[in-house]
Amino acid sequence: MTTAQHRVEEQLIADVLASFARTPDPRLKELMEALVKHLHVFIRETRLTEAEWTRAIEFLTAVGHITDDKRQEFILLSDVLGASMQTIAVNNEAYENATEATVFGPFFVDESPFVGIGGDIAGGAAGTPCWVEGTVRDTLGDPIPGARIEVWEADEDGFYDVQYTDSRVAGRGHLFSGEDGAFGFWGVQPTAYPIPHDGPVGALLDAVDRSPVRAAHLHFMVSAQGFRTLVTHIFVEGDPQLEIGDSVFGVKESLVKRFEEQPAGAPTPDGRALGDKPWTRSRFDIVLAPERQ
Ligand code: BEZ
Ligand code: FE
Repeated sequence: MTTAQHRVEEQLIADVLASFARTPDPRLKELMEALVKHLHVFIRETRLTEAEWTRAIEFLTAVGHITDDKRQEFILLSDVLGASMQTIAVNNEAYENATEATVFGPFFVDESPFVGIGGDIAGGAAGTPCWVEGTVRDTLGDPIPGARIEVWEADEDGFYDVQYTDSRVAGRGHLFSGEDGAFGFWGVQPTAYPIPHDGPVGALLDAVDRSPVRAAHLHFMVSAQGFRTLVTHIFVEGDPQLEIGDSVFGVKESLVKRFEEQPAGAPTPDGRALGDKPWTRSRFDIVLAPERQ
């Protein structure tokens, strides 16, 4: 590159940065300046062509067009680029022995059914019955009673209730930990499933030869007064997708749990009669970090 060309490119960055000089909000100023610096590094480093710039604009336009109040393709894009998990990493630095956080995903719904301890969040969702139990404790090991435990999951066909058109409520619910911090509930055995991939993000994954499939998981959001709200999942030990890779980079080793298969007729923890159905069981002991001061 000639010195003159180098100067043109550097001058443009300086001009754009200077345009933010009067931004009253210092955080907005910092973010805009950093964004411009990194964006220009990307353009200069790759020597982005005008055709590629146009293609990128078309892609982002398509991401916008498919987004509505039910489908958020921008979040999906952030997820597959690892930007969601990086934001989670930056904001949830490991705190002593507290349970690790992972991606929230688009399928949480406010006001899930209350199922109570021992209840069934399946609500008719298809799948092998699965008993999940554990405790909610602080980092010193003391039980946290009354913690709100929100749970949601896909059915055995890999779909959340909100992905069906019949307004069913299934595979989601909430309960509260008992006086001893303990909880237990029925759900269905988690299965690996693809993120929505019929839009521009799916086309991008195709173009880069990446699978849209997420490792099998069960979502949790756990909140209690005085503690940081924990958004996480548990993953299924032995799930082949753990080796292949999770499409949104959500897996953390500490969140991979054993789901023990139980033969039909094996006595259930609460005496529930499952007839000739096999079932599974897992344990998830949750540790909440104290609220940030
Ligand atoms: C999910 O786990 O539900 C999910 C997370 C990120 C993108 C799509 C789905
Ligand atoms: Fe999910």
